Amino acid sequence: MPGPDRLPLGGGSGGARDVTRRSIVERSRVWYLRAELEQGRHLITIADTSLGFAVIGAGRLGASFALALRARGASLLGFTAGSSAGRARAEAWLGGHACDGLAGLVSLAPRLFVIAVPDQDLPAVAADLGARLATVAPTAAANRSGPPVVAHTSGATSVDVLGPCMEAGATALAFHPLQTFSDPATGSGRFVGAAIAITHSASQADRAGADFGFALARLLGARPFLLPDHKRSLYHAAAAFACNYLVTLEHHAEALFVDSGLPREQALSLFLPLVRATLDNIADQGPVRALTGPLSRGDTGTVGRHLEALRADAPHLLGVYRVLGLATLELLRLRGEVDPPVVDELSSLLSASDETPGPRSDGPGA
Ligand SMILES: NC(=O)c1ccc[n+]([C@@H]2O[C@H](COP(=O)([O-])OP(=O)(O)OC[C@H]3O[C@@H](n4cnc5c(N)ncnc54)[C@H](OP(=O)(O)O)[C@@H]3O)[C@@H](O)[C@H]2O)c1
Repeated sequence: MPGPDRLPLGGGSGGARDVTRRSIVERSRVWYLRAELEQGRHLITIADTSLGFAVIGAGRLGASFALALRARGASLLGFTAGSSAGRARAEAWLGGHACDGLAGLVSLAPRLFVIAVPDQDLPAVAADLGARLATVAPTAAANRSGPPVVAHTSGATSVDVLGPCMEAGATALAFHPLQTFSDPATGSGRFVGAAIAITHSASQADRAGADFGFALARLLGARPFLLPDHKRSLYHAAAAFACNYLVTLEHHAEALFVDSGLPREQALSLFLPLVRATLDNIADQGPVRALTGPLSRGDTGTVGRHLEALRADAPHLLGVYRVLGLATLELLRLRGEVDPPVVDELSSLLSASDETPGPRSDGPGA
């Protein structure tokens, strides 16, 4: 583990280079003190701006990462993408010239390689990088300030996909921001306060990957936590529930609102206050207490009418409604406010086959 006043990000020491580094570190101390004061909390003790890094896959996340790290004083030595169009797009975001491939990046001897390519491309990129690191010229290796560190940003992929890089002497880690990045202009600011799942390889018993990842996350103003490798897929499925399927639900909600008569161009802005207030309630009270609506009240009549309306006008969403309704019953059971027989009745109603019309009722509305 590094000492409390030293992050394991930067280089070695010696002579005039050290004097220069000390002045950089002093300047960065002032910078970080200001950042900490602005954020009202103590994030890191000291910063080392000597970190040189390269991004393989400068897409939505990779370019956001590059801009965020650069804003924290680290040096972007090079970047690349998978196609000439991708490289041109990355150049527009990051400036400078993209490398054509990994050979150019490796020759720049960055301390850190960030691999932010699509998950399916990770094995091939890791194998290619590992092969190149294994044959790196001694002069390039000597320029580097320590063993190379390779981080991938996939949520669901094992850190061991970086095996070829580890075999070449690199420290490996998975560094997954629990955040969404749709473009670098907004994405670069989204690391502050974001959770970062860090996984080191069990084959690297010194946990150097985890230490590096924690320091890197703190440099970005993020909140790192350790995630076991065998839980990465489950963790990523949780993220799909929290983020991706929320988007799916809002998409279908918008279509249903428009079918019900809301003006298409205003529908989103008309129901977004409801969505935002729901998120606020979840933040304030937790999801179980935040639940409102007919299920929370045990209102079988209204749920039955929802099913009928969907069967008539949106049968493709009937199954989704049923599954989500059944999943919501768990919240009712946890809250304990609806009588168990009513919960059972709701369960039967939601489980019924779509061929059988649900019970009709003229009970209270939603
Ligand atoms: N975006 C997010 O919100 C987010 C959040 C957390 C984690 N992640 C993770 O970050 C990774 C990248 O996601 P993304 O959303 O940033 O994807 P993206 O926008 O599609 O970017 C992927 C980048 O990788 C490049 N690439 C593809 N194949 C390559 C290769 N063989 N060598 C070098 N570069 C290659 C692409 O270049 P071309 O365009 O030229 O193909 C593109 O620049 C994924 O593992 C994802 O799970 C993303």
